[in-house]
Amino acid sequence: MGMLEELFSLQNKTILVTGGARGIGKAVAHRVAAVGADIVIFDLNGKAAAETADEIAKEHNCRTTSFEVDVTDYEAVGKCLKLAVEHMGKIDLLFNNAGIVIQKPVIETTPEEWNKVIDVNLNGVYYVAQQFGKYLIENNIKGAIVNTASMSGTIVNYPQLQASYNTSKAAVVHLTKSIAYEWAPYDIRVNCISPGYIFTELTSFVREDWRDQWAESTPMKRLGKPEELAGAVIYLLSDSASFVTGSELVIDGGFTII
Ligand SMILES: NC(=O)c1ccc[n+]([C@@H]2O[C@H](COP(=O)([O-])OP(=O)(O)OC[C@H]3O[C@@H](n4cnc5c(N)ncnc54)[C@H](O)[C@@H]3O)[C@@H](O)[C@H]2O)c1
Repeated sequence: MGMLEELFSLQNKTILVTGGARGIGKAVAHRVAAVGADIVIFDLNGKAAAETADEIAKEHNCRTTSFEVDVTDYEAVGKCLKLAVEHMGKIDLLFNNAGIVIQKPVIETTPEEWNKVIDVNLNGVYYVAQQFGKYLIENNIKGAIVNTASMSGTIVNYPQLQASYNTSKAAVVHLTKSIAYEWAPYDIRVNCISPGYIFTELTSFVREDWRDQWAESTPMKRLGKPEELAGAVIYLLSDSASFVTGSELVIDGGFTII
């Protein structure tokens, strides 16, 4: 094995990607497959997840499977995880990435809207991580987890108002650190990425003048592309990061430095 492969290979690994049907999850899943991993996708959109899984299998000549599952459904997550393990043999890695945003001022946000965002972005991340970690520990697998947080866990976005999202992502960062501490004795590493503005379906519906403002406020004067997050995820999941746990890797074109 050459040095490059030794540093970043995910060969003989299987990864579970939540929210992998499109956007960041899909772009990362493609690249994780390109460096050797087999792929399991969990997504609310079963049809798109199956299409993405097929596409990745063909393009990278690897094994893939997908499940239509809502990460806020604790029982369903457990059931699908069990089926996925039976189908793939084992799962070593998790990219815990499904998330949603509702952009509304606090005063106009209903309890239902607030709870929905917290449920997907925080509880969903917890439900998947908790059951996946339990599986790793019980099977003595030294795995790794990367959660998708956001720079919104640190800064308050503008001009759009989205307190529920910002709060959920701040919690994902601290959940990451808390689980990292608990599972360090098992050699299970838990880290998160915090992307800045990335152009995906999640952000494409937003007013164009707001998107222009996001680019203008970013020192690199543009939005990021989903594939620009893949190297960070691969690094955190690979043996190159064997002493890295509980960390937040910010990938934001410099947004949070000013
Ligand atoms: N796009 C950005 O600018 C940006 C910035 C920072 C962080 N993020 C985070 O990155 C992650 C991915 O975002 P994206 O831009 O790719 O979004 P996206 O909307 O393009 O993709 C999200 C995927 O998650 C799935 N999903 C949503 N709710 C789900 C649920 N309850 N159960 C299972 N699957 C569900 C969707 O079906 C979709 O396939 C999210 O956690 C998001 O908060 C995005």
